[in-house]
Amino acid sequence: MSMDNDIKKVLLTKEEIEAICKRLGEQISRDYAGKKLLLVSVLKGAVVFMADIMRNITVDAEIDFMSISSYKGAESTGVVQFKKDLDINPDGYDILIVEDILDTGRSLRYIADILLRKNANSVKICTFLDKPENRKADISADYVGAKVPNEFVVGYGLDYNEKYRNLPYLGVLKPEVYSK
Ligand code: IMP
Ligand code: MG
Repeated sequence: MSMDNDIKKVLLTKEEIEAICKRLGEQISRDYAGKKLLLVSVLKGAVVFMADIMRNITVDAEIDFMSISSYKGAESTGVVQFKKDLDINPDGYDILIVEDILDTGRSLRYIADILLRKNANSVKICTFLDKPENRKADISADYVGAKVPNEFVVGYGLDYNEKYRNLPYLGVLKPEVYSK
């Protein structure tokens, strides 16, 4: 069975996503010229976006990865679990966190606080998607690819129970997929 059959509607096509990455890359390149930019991506959902965004950045940038988890299935547990720390010491870096989606904001609030405590020079957020309706923590993104309604979305790195990350577009799952 093809993954496409589980999708109710397409929210962003491959071409629309390409345009988003180009726009954000240009903006970031302007803002971070002459700075010590470290792109920090949150595994695993943000890897696809990270791969595209870094290739649209034309100024010097280093990359690193962190891993946390806050989700089980389609429901937020509200509890953030730390799984993998950075390899690079964030001290003195201008950090741009590259995330797949800003939902309740708990994950990013947690990560931003850790980086600030480790003496990052600055910490900003670039999120592919923003679901502002569902915010619980005090945090907002500095760079937003697109705003999405409060629906569970998959594809372009985002999963439902580890599936659909490899879809090249962003879609909304059919409700019957949850009840399978
Ligand atoms: P937050 O802490 O609630 O902001 O959770 C953010 C994380 O939850 C994201 O990095 C995703 O991994 C996951 N998440 C939130 N909403 C969705 C969604 O609609 N689809 C897939 N994953 C989601
Ligand atoms: Mg994630």
